[in-house]
Amino acid sequence: MSLQGKVAVVTGAARGLGRAYALRLAGLGADVAIIDVDLDGAAKFGESLTAPSVSAEIKALGRKSVGIKADLTKRSDATAAIDSVLAQFGKIDILVNNAGGAITPPENSKPSEVSDDDIRLTFDVNLMSTIYCCQAVVPAMKRQQSGVIVNTSSTAGRSVAPGGSLSHYGVSKAAVTHYTRNLAAELGPFGIRANCIAPGVMLTARIKALAKELNVPIVALSQLSRQVENRDDKRPQLSDLRESGSIEQDADVVMFVFREEYYLSNKEPRPGTDDHIKWQTEMDAAHGKAEIIIGKQRHGPTGTVNLQFDAAVTRFDNLARDDQAIDQH
Ligand SMILES: NC(=O)c1ccc[n+]([C@@H]2O[C@H](COP(=O)([O-])OP(=O)(O)OC[C@H]3O[C@@H](n4cnc5c(N)ncnc54)[C@H](O)[C@@H]3O)[C@@H](O)[C@H]2O)c1
Repeated sequence: MSLQGKVAVVTGAARGLGRAYALRLAGLGADVAIIDVDLDGAAKFGESLTAPSVSAEIKALGRKSVGIKADLTKRSDATAAIDSVLAQFGKIDILVNNAGGAITPPENSKPSEVSDDDIRLTFDVNLMSTIYCCQAVVPAMKRQQSGVIVNTSSTAGRSVAPGGSLSHYGVSKAAVTHYTRNLAAELGPFGIRANCIAPGVMLTARIKALAKELNVPIVALSQLSRQVENRDDKRPQLSDLRESGSIEQDADVVMFVFREEYYLSNKEPRPGTDDHIKWQTEMDAAHGKAEIIIGKQRHGPTGTVNLQFDAAVTRFDNLARDDQAIDQH
């Protein structure tokens, strides 16, 4: 896909996911305008840029860029920022409404306790900023008879955190999702697509800093690329994580679960053949076992730990060495 000649706007792109979207769009050929309340916000959580600003990073990719400071919780700021992009670039083909976040304290954030101020701020930063930017860009997109709007919800808009914590964030993101559905219904006939993405927890510098502050580990579960299925040896490798954000770079420890028995059981040869006897021997050796492959450990060794696995209850346990096993014959 090439976005050569397209103009994109990404809000909240001074760091984190927004910066990643902006760099990706620029990498695909688009000119990208950044709108953020704090254009120097990357340093706040120790996120290092490859140039003095995200706009400078985009320019280094050979694209045009501008950084516009705006508080998108204010309609006047949002409208002025979008107008400024239109004035400088002549059009906007893509608007990514990414600015937002769970910016109020998690304490006292249960649905029955959360304060008016925290609710209002959270709604302003997630929902109203999105609505303001959409409303500012739509007249230009309608004139163009084309455009793409991507709004940012969250899995928090679909699921409930333990004890209903940060409920108002989830509610604001659920509102973004439903606003986008309605927007899509209105704008489709004008050739404008409106979609919403709902990320799960992504390992941004902010999320890591928050985990450090709360002294909690971050555990991220990830699917593997389909490459694994095309290999003879299906043991997962770090490179199989490449489509899962930046887990392979960011995580301190990466562990894979592998069960040979799963794959063997799916290729049983015709019973009564020599192949079947060979297969049965391999199945017996693999039965009830699992491997935890430590593909990366920042301050320790990598390798494989063999475990016992009970498929009936999906439980892992220590595996006795052969010389410790109870003789069952
Ligand atoms: N990181 C995650 O795990 C995760 C998960 C689900 C959804 N999201 C959503 O993705 C988006 C980006 O998340 P992130 O983790 O990169 O957050 P982040 O805090 O690292 O980045 C958010 C950016 O938005 C900007 N911003 C905040 N308020 C603003 C305002 N009033 N006006 C203009 N800019 C403003 C910030 O300055 C910052 O640059 C958010 O909408 C967040 O809710 C993130």
